[in-house]
Amino acid sequence: MSSSRYQAVIFDLDGVITDTAHYHYLAWKRLAEAQGVPFDLAFNENLKGIDRMGSLDLILASSAKRYTAAEKLALADEKNLHYQELIATMSAGDLLPGAVAALDTVRAAGMKIGLASVSKNAFTVLERLGITDKFDYVVDAALIARGKPDPEIFLKAARELGVAPADCLGVEDAVASVASIKAAGMVALGIGQADVLTQADVVIPSLAQFDLNAY
Ligand code: BG6
Ligand code: MG
Repeated sequence: MSSSRYQAVIFDLDGVITDTAHYHYLAWKRLAEAQGVPFDLAFNENLKGIDRMGSLDLILASSAKRYTAAEKLALADEKNLHYQELIATMSAGDLLPGAVAALDTVRAAGMKIGLASVSKNAFTVLERLGITDKFDYVVDAALIARGKPDPEIFLKAARELGVAPADCLGVEDAVASVASIKAAGMVALGIGQADVLTQADVVIPSLAQFDLNAY
């Protein structure tokens, strides 16, 4: 058994367990080009952890055109169809290094495992990666009213797992997402760079460095 102080670990999906950011980038880029608004990899960084409609608003903010709610929904649907085409070929080979080992370490330590992704495609991606059964609870993003950095999604995961937020470790790769963990009253493990994820309690480069007893 582990000597870790947590009862549950709640993981983000995109950028932590698998790198879907590139597929989101390609799908948003096609949309931005069709709408005549600038879009590049640097801008894509701002979209990490941000839900679909929030991302669309950020992309269209530089357009002179005013979009109706119906037009925005149609654009978001179009982007999502393209994204779904791109992720259709994903497989276990798209798991990031250390991801499965981290999940298995948490399981072996007797802790609960949750997934808190704002992606409405999370269930599909988990299936493609072949890791659905490794989670005790996966938040359905369609049931979440407020995206990250609001704490709602992490609080929902903790509640469904039956664990107090203070006994949870949250694992995230984006600034807005780390803010969500902290607002939920959890310890935040950042995946990425310490000078970017400044709100995280600890930052490691990837799950390949995951050590449950170190946080
Ligand atoms: C997050 C990604 O996990 O999910 C964002 O970091 C993405 O880039 C968001 O916009 C929503 O995803 P989806 O699949 O519901 O469009
Ligand atoms: Mg992420």
